[in-house]
Amino acid sequence: MTADSDPIQVPGAPASEPPAVDEPTRPRGPLPPKPDQSGPDTYTPTGAVTATPRDAVAQQGERLTTAQGLPLRDTDHSLKAGRRGPVLLQDHHLREKITHFDHERIPERVVHARGAAAHGTFVANGEAAAYTRAAFLKPGAVTETFVRFSTVLGSRGSADTVRDTRGFATKFYTSEGVYDLVGNNIPVFFIQDAIKFPDIIHAGKPHPDREIPQAQSAHDTFWDFVSLHTEAQHHTMWNMSDRALPRSYRMMQGFGIHTFRLINEEGVTTLVKFHWRPRLGTHGLTWEEAQLIAGKDPDFHRRDLADAIEAGAFPEWDFGIQVFPDTEDQLFHGIDLLDPTKIVPEELAPVKVVGTMTLDRNPSNYFAETEQVAFHPGHLVPGIDVTSDPLLQGRLFSYLDTQITRLGGPNFAQLPINRPHAEINDMLRDGMHQTAVHSGVAPYHPNSLDGGCPFPAMVTGGAERGATHDDGAFVDVPQHLAEDVVTREQPASFDDHFSQARLFYRSLTPVEQLHVKQAYAFELGKVYEQAITERQLRCLANIDAELCGFVAEQLGLPAPAPTEQVPDSEPSPALRMVTGDRWPVSGRQVGIVVDDETDAAAVASARETLHAAGVTPLVVAPHGGTIGGVPVQRSFHTATSVELDAVIVLAPAVDPRVLELLREAFRHDKAIGVATEAQALLADVAIPPTAPGLVTGDTAAVVGGVLDLLPSHRVWERELV
Ligand code: HEM
Repeated sequence: MTADSDPIQVPGAPASEPPAVDEPTRPRGPLPPKPDQSGPDTYTPTGAVTATPRDAVAQQGERLTTAQGLPLRDTDHSLKAGRRGPVLLQDHHLREKITHFDHERIPERVVHARGAAAHGTFVANGEAAAYTRAAFLKPGAVTETFVRFSTVLGSRGSADTVRDTRGFATKFYTSEGVYDLVGNNIPVFFIQDAIKFPDIIHAGKPHPDREIPQAQSAHDTFWDFVSLHTEAQHHTMWNMSDRALPRSYRMMQGFGIHTFRLINEEGVTTLVKFHWRPRLGTHGLTWEEAQLIAGKDPDFHRRDLADAIEAGAFPEWDFGIQVFPDTEDQLFHGIDLLDPTKIVPEELAPVKVVGTMTLDRNPSNYFAETEQVAFHPGHLVPGIDVTSDPLLQGRLFSYLDTQITRLGGPNFAQLPINRPHAEINDMLRDGMHQTAVHSGVAPYHPNSLDGGCPFPAMVTGGAERGATHDDGAFVDVPQHLAEDVVTREQPASFDDHFSQARLFYRSLTPVEQLHVKQAYAFELGKVYEQAITERQLRCLANIDAELCGFVAEQLGLPAPAPTEQVPDSEPSPALRMVTGDRWPVSGRQVGIVVDDETDAAAVASARETLHAAGVTPLVVAPHGGTIGGVPVQRSFHTATSVELDAVIVLAPAVDPRVLELLREAFRHDKAIGVATEAQALLADVAIPPTAPGLVTGDTAAVVGGVLDLLPSHRVWERELV
């Protein structure tokens, strides 16, 4: 809770004004959205800008009505034949209300069902203009965006913090139409060919007989598939790292994964891989923390994103490209650029920053925006094209197809969140949920009855070939294809399944490697059939003997010998999350444990210092309400260590629940500050006074010490003693 008059407002208020205790009875219009919230920009279904305010599509008027606008007197009682009589079929309001409710749900996404999103703005710095003629990448171009982050495996109601790959899908509403970059937070994929997508997803989803486990990879069918289908081993290695447990959506990298082709004004092509780099750094949870959060706050990532934006801590990402020459073999330093199970180390091809995205508005309606948004890797703009990566090629079919089922017909591009911010003049007509009112009689080409409209657009440079204008049309770049035969095979260069899994593992710091080892031991320890764990150990033997030995020992199985000669490559430090760098702390949460005796001035100054640093301070006290006039956000009953990035204790003898909170925070490598008067409790929680990441002293010293530790994310030394 936060008092309205308190200058330090904790995000999370449910509505734009606080409610009265008594039921409101005086008619008034709908409340506006909260200041941090916004619907999509208002364009018509055919892309015309409207003067309509964003909230004009929200409910209107003071009185309850039917969907047809008929004012209603009562919505709490059905129309009955007498007070105790049966309900009448003529009750049109009852039938409308229940019928609409019965159809409120739409099918969840077949994958990536669980997600959270935000609106933002992308500003290009012009560094990409030499490679692409895409208007949104020209110097200074400003483009509205909508980003949806997601897990892959779980259902819509599953927990946020499960071990999984995260989706990172960005919709750019460019002046040349919508461009979608539908990526993940891991730069490689499980499979090389889209025809395997149903297989990997069927293997990862719950077992079809009992429908368990939900949103987990620690089960037999997953490891059965990836141990047999060894091209998945590189992605699996990333899944076993802390990359699969993001601390926050705001602290995740994003990758386009496939190689794409850029085309510049002169028609020259370049191959690129896309990267998003969070300005807050890339940080993970610990595995125990992730599991605890899944129970205590399954909406952890959703809440974190919305709260940070509400608190004004707008997350930012630099957008970058790795650039490769568009050679006929599409290899770079021997790495096949069409193989989506391979990265190109940044040491070989540095990431060139081409712009920055800031997410600064929360959606005002989850269903209308986050649920109905439809991404598609085939939503391209002039200057960006696909390559023959067989995974990407299959995706180009799949998204459009699935959205017809999920969004109930072919007109989902007309939903407000999907509407382009560019003029639409297609000849697509009719269909379910058509909201455009097309004019004319000739939606076919060529025609004369509609005066020949619409006319095919001219391309850049078309004027030289006699065209009278230049509309910047999308051009399918002529590509030379080597003579070949139709075949269900893949190139030999796709056959190396282990060298980059090894590269990833050996590039990590010791603490990151320890987490990978523990993750394999946990996941394989959950597999019922020993044959599957033995098979996966054989894969690990080809990747790294020490990793394989650790996991085998944990499982009580012999470590097998390698079966393949796997080439070594130089480690890539760019793959590490633990870098020794210091990162901004905006949007982090710090708990301040107090009791009724704590000096109110000390609490107030701790809050103010933390708040001034961009951190959200949460006062944790024996009861709700206020302590010395300071509002309390968590009682000892509701506080939990896992929602805090650091803890400051100002109360000398605290409750056993808080002692447990401290033990957890210590185990999860979080900064802890204990004021001198509270120091005696360190013995109760078995934290040595010299422990790394523990600061003691007066209030100012512990707050300062914690703020000094926070930019490093965690106190890793605790795990390596
Ligand atoms: C590099 C590989 C891939 C990446 C990075 C990727 C990423 C994503 C992301 C981020 C989403 C969620 C979009 C959202 O938030 O609405 C998604 C959804 C989906 N993906 Fe993929 N995906 C990949 C491969 C594939 C393949 C190979 C297929 C099928 C052949 C596929 C089919 C789907 C489908 C059907 C959805 C649900 C779309 C919807 O209902 O709107 N994906 N994917």
